[in-house]
Amino acid sequence: MIPIITPEIEHYLNRLQPTTDPVLQAMEAYAADIQFPIIGPHVGRLLHLLAKLSNARKILELGSGFGYSAYWLAQAIPAGGVIYCTEFDPQNRERAYTYLQSAGLSSKVRYYTGDALEWIEQLEETEFDMIVNDVDKEDYPRVIEKALPKLRLGGLLITDNVLWKGQVIQEPPPDTKTQNVQIYLQQALHHPDLTTVILPIRDGVAISMKTGSGKAP
Ligand SMILES: C[S@@+](CC[C@H](N)C(=O)[O-])C[C@H]1O[C@@H](n2cnc3c(N)ncnc32)[C@H](O)[C@@H]1O
Repeated sequence: MIPIITPEIEHYLNRLQPTTDPVLQAMEAYAADIQFPIIGPHVGRLLHLLAKLSNARKILELGSGFGYSAYWLAQAIPAGGVIYCTEFDPQNRERAYTYLQSAGLSSKVRYYTGDALEWIEQLEETEFDMIVNDVDKEDYPRVIEKALPKLRLGGLLITDNVLWKGQVIQEPPPDTKTQNVQIYLQQALHHPDLTTVILPIRDGVAISMKTGSGKAP
């Protein structure tokens, strides 16, 4: 593991911007307790900001866990907006609703239980303002081909863990998860319809806009 942000900087940022929302505090404590990989407060705040900046009303999340990232998004979208969450584990969905209900946010969220990448093909909804990808790394190479048709022009595709504990710099990659994250990044950077920026925060976040013919140089 190669640290992307030094522990000292991480600690400093956490002190500078502590989580104050009691529901988020409880979710973070639960995640720490069972070592569940949530996106954490800095990426959570980033998602929140991006949803607001893009006036997102309709969001699709691939890999929602017990709703931590969805909670940040639900706080950002207006009444009437909706987040389609996807998750393998029904117990995570139940836990998510408990947290979201306690903050009056559950009406903005719909949960599908099962494989997000299979479900996306049956989903009739299109023109999503934002798609957030946090599925198992084995699935990363399939995400762009499945998700892009569902994203509106100008919409954002945001993918977590794109620096994968710093392992992405290793050649050859040490395992298939790392290799799949490398493949994802190549696809996101070179896709003719996407303009992508990689932010080295936490475990690395890729933000891609569906720019179509207006791709950045
Ligand atoms: C890294 S966790 C993150 C959860 C959430 N984004 C957060 O930060 O709070 C990923 C979650 O996605 C689920 N998951 C992974 N691949 C999936 C897939 N293909 N379809 C549905 N759920 C998936 C896992 O069960 C796990 O709960």
